[in-house]
Amino acid sequence: MTLEPGQSLADAVSAATAILRDAGVPSPRVDAELLADHLLNVGLGRLRAMMLGDTPAPEGYEALVAERAGRVPLQHITGVAHFRYLTLAVGPGVFIPRPETESVAQLVIDHVKDMPRPRIVDLGTGSGAIAGSIAHEVPGAEVHAVEFSPFAHAWAEKNLAPLGVRLFLGDLRDALPELNATFDVVVSNPPYIPAEAIPNEPEVALHDPPEALYGGGADGMELPTAAAASAARLLRPGGYFVMEHAEVQAQWISAMLARTGTWTGITTHLDLNGKERATSALLADPDRRNERIGE
Ligand SMILES: C[S@@+](CC[C@H](N)C(=O)[O-])C[C@H]1O[C@@H](n2cnc3c(N)ncnc32)[C@H](O)[C@@H]1O
Repeated sequence: MTLEPGQSLADAVSAATAILRDAGVPSPRVDAELLADHLLNVGLGRLRAMMLGDTPAPEGYEALVAERAGRVPLQHITGVAHFRYLTLAVGPGVFIPRPETESVAQLVIDHVKDMPRPRIVDLGTGSGAIAGSIAHEVPGAEVHAVEFSPFAHAWAEKNLAPLGVRLFLGDLRDALPELNATFDVVVSNPPYIPAEAIPNEPEVALHDPPEALYGGGADGMELPTAAAASAARLLRPGGYFVMEHAEVQAQWISAMLARTGTWTGITTHLDLNGKERATSALLADPDRRNERIGE
C-alpha cells in the first residue's frame, strides 16, 4: 500500500503505518495517526471517528510521513512533547523528555506535598520537563532549574517562563553557589550513558544532543557523581535528592552515595515497568555525620 493523492484519511493512515513499520519505527500506527492529527488538529478520538467515513487525507501528510520514516523523532516534527500535564515545546538541540522520567517528578511531588513553600532545583533541566511539572503541580513551590547547553536553555526558557521557574544557564557542577544549603529538594536526570554505549535508535543517536546522553567516563558516571556532589552542597540538612539513572547503574549509585557518608535513607525506586531507574537519599545532618564518624 502506498500514499497517493486523493486518498481517504483511513487509507492514507494505513499506508503510512506500513511505510513507518518498514522503516523500523517502533509504534507505526500511533505515529501515523499522530502525524495526521498534527495536520488536522482534532484529537485522536475524533480522528479515529473521521477514519470511519470518507474524509480525505490532509494536504502535506506524505511529507511528514517521509520525514518520520527517515527516523526524525515524532516530537521534532510536531514540535511538542507531552510530559505529565504539560505540552512542552521541543526541537533540535534539546533532549526529548521520556515517559519514565514522569515517575522521577512524581517522587519529588510526593515528597514535598506537605511543605508550604518548598524550594526545589532541577539540575540539567533540558526542555524543563521536571522543573515545569513540579511548578505546575505543587502550588507554592519555588522552582529553580539549571541547564548547561545554550540550545536546550532556549527551549527551557520558552517552556518554563510561563510557569514561573527561575532558569539559569550554567554547569550543574558549580551552579548557584550563592544558594548553597538552601534547597529542600535537588532533582536531576543527568546524562548517564557510558561513552561506548551508542544508542541503537536513530531518533536518539542522531537527534538527541550528545551532551544530554553521555555522562562522561567509560561508565557514564562523571555527571551523575557530580550531580550528587552538587546536591550535597545545595541541600539543607535533611533535604531530599533524587536522580534518574540506567537500570544497571542502580547498585553503583547507591554504593557511591553510601561511600560519601553524606546521605541517609538511600532508596532505589522502580519505574512503571518495574525497573530500578531512580535513587533518592536524604542529606544527613552534619552534626550527626560527625557523631557517626566518631563512633
Ligand atoms: C538526560 S537530559 C535530561 C533533560 C531533562 N531533565 C529531562 O528529564 O527530560 C540531561 C540534560 O543535562 C544537560 N547537561 C549536560 N551536562 C550538563 C552540565 N554539566 N550542567 C548542566 N546541565 C548539563 C543536558 O544538556 C541535558 O539537557
